[in-house]
Amino acid sequence: MTTSYSSDTSGRELRDTFGRVHRDLRVSLTDRCSLRCTYCMPATGMEWIAGPDQLTTDELLRIVRISVEHGIGTVRLTGGEPLLRPDVVDVVASITALPNPPEVSLTTNGLRLPGLAAPLADAGLRRVNISLDTMDRERFRTLTLRDRLVDTLAGIAAAKAAGLDPVKINTVLMRGVNDDEAPTMLQWALAEGLQLRFIEQMPLDPQHSWDRSRMVTAAEILDLLTAGGFDLTPEEDRGSAPAERWLVNGGPQAVGIIGSVTRPFCGDCDRVRITSDGQWRSCLFARHETDLRGPLRAGASDATLAELMRLDVAGKAAGHGIDDPGFMQPRRPMSAIGG
Ligand SMILES: C[S@@+](CC[C@H](N)C(=O)[O-])C[C@H]1O[C@@H](n2cnc3c(N)ncnc32)[C@H](O)[C@@H]1O
Ligand code: SF4
Repeated sequence: MTTSYSSDTSGRELRDTFGRVHRDLRVSLTDRCSLRCTYCMPATGMEWIAGPDQLTTDELLRIVRISVEHGIGTVRLTGGEPLLRPDVVDVVASITALPNPPEVSLTTNGLRLPGLAAPLADAGLRRVNISLDTMDRERFRTLTLRDRLVDTLAGIAAAKAAGLDPVKINTVLMRGVNDDEAPTMLQWALAEGLQLRFIEQMPLDPQHSWDRSRMVTAAEILDLLTAGGFDLTPEEDRGSAPAERWLVNGGPQAVGIIGSVTRPFCGDCDRVRITSDGQWRSCLFARHETDLRGPLRAGASDATLAELMRLDVAGKAAGHGIDDPGFMQPRRPMSAIGG
């Protein structure tokens, strides 16, 4: 392919045909996980990315560097479970040592944070999102197929102790499974100084078990919290942030809801993604991804890789299209794309 590389900074931005400039990169460090959340992975039978197909850390860091040189200002490490990557602390340190370093954050199930929160903070990690769907041990075991609630809670405590701020909690509610816990979880988060965000369940599971009628919607979450005695006031415009926020009982603490399905924020989306096997994606729901690993291993220049990123972003769709009659899930599950 031909490459046209401009030294002009504005021409380097990752801009799509709708004028959206991309500033946020989600980096999947692995597709493996230590839990089996039922809405994310089947108990068995996952098709894992083969070892040699995974980017080496040098390859991954090169892609991150090039993207930072093209306007990326925030990097979120995710997966799968990103803390399973043995050199995750070095990855954070290397990204924060880049010229014009991006802000680095992490989305994790928290299990390994007791040992890693402090080294990660020392390496330059600022913020963390920890996923927790229930405060009940037996439910946690049923929902994740692992009896590890105590480890996630220890991870949350370790994140706070390491000074990571804010510590956000991601919660997916499922009808008749854990939706009764919405007020309890908010009460607990407020008391612990944690920022709770509820996430609408999305059609991204390999089992294809998502059922719109079973999804707990943003409107229902608001009703559950109000019925639980909370007074909620909508906060400021969310900009490109996925979560809408409501002040709780007059503030200053707030609760977030990520209504990806019923209140999509695609018009302001500034996110791009790189999978752990080097596939560049302009949307979580994209059915197309651009291979960077092949060209990278074949000796492509930075300019060529940047051009591939730009071309992919240029083809980004206006929205995820979940409501379109012809909607089809992406070929890969969220755990492989990077949640
Ligand atoms: C895929 S996980 C990856 C990072 C890490 N393992 C964790 O759980 O935080 C990232 C987030 O995606 C959420 N998630 C996974 N599958 C989802 C789905 N189908 N719909 C909505 N959220 C989902 C998880 O609850 C988690 O908060
Ligand atoms: S949501 Fe996160 S912790 Fe749960 S199975 Fe998926 S990747 Fe693992």
